[in-house]
Amino acid sequence: MSYNLLKGKRGIIFGALDENSIAWKTAERAHEEGATFVLTNAPVALRMGTINTLAEKTNSEVIPADATKVEDLENLIEKSQEILGGKIDFVLHSIGMSINVRKGKHYTDQNYDWTHKGLDVSAMSFHKLMQTLHKKEAMNEWGSIVALTYMAAQRVFPDYNDMADNKAYLESIARSFGYFFGKDKKVRVNTISQSPTPTSAGQGVKGFTGFMNYAEKMSPLGNATALECADYTLTLFSDLTKKVTLQNLFHDGGFSNMGVSQEIMESMKD
Ligand SMILES: NC(=O)c1ccc[n+]([C@@H]2O[C@H](COP(=O)([O-])OP(=O)(O)OC[C@H]3O[C@@H](n4cnc5c(N)ncnc54)[C@H](O)[C@@H]3O)[C@@H](O)[C@H]2O)c1
Repeated sequence: MSYNLLKGKRGIIFGALDENSIAWKTAERAHEEGATFVLTNAPVALRMGTINTLAEKTNSEVIPADATKVEDLENLIEKSQEILGGKIDFVLHSIGMSINVRKGKHYTDQNYDWTHKGLDVSAMSFHKLMQTLHKKEAMNEWGSIVALTYMAAQRVFPDYNDMADNKAYLESIARSFGYFFGKDKKVRVNTISQSPTPTSAGQGVKGFTGFMNYAEKMSPLGNATALECADYTLTLFSDLTKKVTLQNLFHDGGFSNMGVSQEIMESMKD
């Protein structure tokens, strides 16, 4: 169903890799809600070519940008404003990557070059993105910036590895930069802390299926899907949430406030 929630709004959406990506679903829903936007991803991800299907479907252009490179972000933000015909109303940062996770390196035995790269891609890129938007005065007043995160920033999930630390840093950047963006430009900045979701990044985490099943059994409403995450994200881009900022918002079917559920207790019986 469409509510015209984003009618006339212009955006930039990072991170649509394939049709499972949370960013992919967000782009589809944003299009249905009347937004126009530019899609972007790292040049290496664009080589897969699938994003062109999404671009056609949503009538949008694709601009390559490695989110760790400020010059790429500058180019993206300049071109996006030209293409869209004005300043930006919403930005989705849906980017995450850990080489330690990918290569199965244990948290207690990290390769620090990989740790550094993962931190740059998954967290510092958010600062670089906002600093570039801020310097270029590219955001409209009452615009909205959202990044996606996971609860391992607050609680221990051993196999989430160094991504837990990256997410803690990401969430802190949202608060710290959100203060300045709010004061200077009336722009809000939030993170959405999403349930485990079967995407390319999600499935890279060791034991992901067990992890998902556990969360499903713990959450009174069950895990939130990628499409449901897209819907929630759109509310934050809409004018209905203008005073929500500096928040880490759990979108997880209630998981984050659970102690234990009956299903988990049942499975523990001797
Ligand atoms: N899947 C889950 O279980 C889950 C749960 C909570 C939060 N998240 C977060 O949601 C976000 C989106 O992930 P997803 O699950 O949709 O997976 P995904 O693999 O579809 O998306 C991750 C994206 O990051 C992009 N990316 C990697 N390096 C980049 C770079 N240098 N520059 C620009 N883009 C780059 C990838 O190309 C990809 O499109 C991530 O921040 C992830 O941590 C995912």
